[in-house]
Amino acid sequence: MTTASVRLPEHLIHPFAPAGRADPHPAYRWLRANDPVHFDAASRLWLVTSHADCATVLRDPRFSAAQGQRERARDDELPPSMLTTDPPDHHRLRAPGALLLGPAAVRPLGAGLAADVDALLDALPVDRPVDAVADLGRRLATAVYARLFGLPAAEFTRFEALARAASVNLDPMVPPARAALGRSAAGALTHYLDRHTTRLLADGVAVPLTALAADDRLSRAEMLGILNLAVIGGWQPLAEFIGNALHLLLPDRAAVARLAAADEDAARLAVDELLRLEAPIPFTARVTTDRVELNGGVLPAGARVLAVLTAANRDPEVFADPDDLRLDRSPNPHLGFGGGPHFCLAAPLVRQTAALLLPRLVRRFPALRGPAGAPAWDQCLVPRRLRAFPLELGPAAPDLAPAPDLAPALRCPHPGFEESR
Ligand code: HEM
Repeated sequence: MTTASVRLPEHLIHPFAPAGRADPHPAYRWLRANDPVHFDAASRLWLVTSHADCATVLRDPRFSAAQGQRERARDDELPPSMLTTDPPDHHRLRAPGALLLGPAAVRPLGAGLAADVDALLDALPVDRPVDAVADLGRRLATAVYARLFGLPAAEFTRFEALARAASVNLDPMVPPARAALGRSAAGALTHYLDRHTTRLLADGVAVPLTALAADDRLSRAEMLGILNLAVIGGWQPLAEFIGNALHLLLPDRAAVARLAAADEDAARLAVDELLRLEAPIPFTARVTTDRVELNGGVLPAGARVLAVLTAANRDPEVFADPDDLRLDRSPNPHLGFGGGPHFCLAAPLVRQTAALLLPRLVRRFPALRGPAGAPAWDQCLVPRRLRAFPLELGPAAPDLAPAPDLAPALRCPHPGFEESR
């Protein structure tokens, strides 16, 4: 095995080191330019950083997701999910997943989600600072799952607690004790989803979850594996994406104005550009089943590989001015949703939902500002996220602010936002 590793120059901090996690981009930039298929001696992982090579890692069948994802902490009692299987078995699990997250399942949710977003904005606290992560991102994510899973408002707090605890499983490098907690949280989440599904089916509730649960191509355990993956793989990345996006957006007042004026298509382009620059899932794991020659170097069979999506997303071979925010960037072949057979099944839903929230937010609060100075990034590697992002809302645009006496009524569509605060 060729493991003679190139070292990062002294002035750059390793992207996994505590200080490097705050801003991994300089190290990734150097790796992409100087050693795009890099053996990292500390983690014994291969870091692949160019766009072309990451796309190959995601698409080429010699890179096994089944073996790559198995390294993550997970509940061993769960059946394999679509993310932990390779084709052809992967296809068997993914096809029914469309009942939960495919375009036909998601399109009818649009009007309800728009109402949820308006209710969320109406309910923003006026008596304390607003936080982009806690008050916007998490609530948006929970509203999405409420629509997909038919969660009643009274369940929001419990669901969020389970989703947050189980999300620890996303980060392959958490210390063993936290990984063990994440595993047991994933188990608790599965039991919760099991009971919830039984209740919904008994009550004849028609939501995407019950369409999936009624499909006989999957065993009950496989169906629960998909629900579990959807929560662990999606709730926190979606929640964190909103903070990451506002952190990029707010300092650029021209971009804020552009987003405020954006129609639906322009807003979706903007969402893709924000995802490109700060991907909440910065890398994903695979294992080679054979020796593979990439443009940037050779991988032996059995190599544990990270496709560093966030590095690929700033590759100057593909993106002009890759570190700049250009909300109208098109085409934008970023890898923030992955690529190939495991491409994020919820990408249309994420685009649709974020494109509802972000323009409405900046239209309603034209003077919206984030904190001055460096943002506080969390130490967690996956998802990449801010610890907090306090916002100054400023006055609401007069024609978009709820009239004071109407505000409580307007909150009715989703009273759960009140309860889960
Ligand atoms: C901003 C939010 C999100 C981002 C950045 C994101 C990103 C990703 C990425 C990078 C992958 C590919 C992983 C790999 O190849 O190893 C993926 C897969 C997946 N995502 Fe998302 N995701 C997001 C939200 C969601 C949501 C909200 C859901 C569900 C409601 C979801 C469901 C899934 C599923 C089921 C897969 C596995 C697909 C497969 O293996 O075939 N994601 N996502």
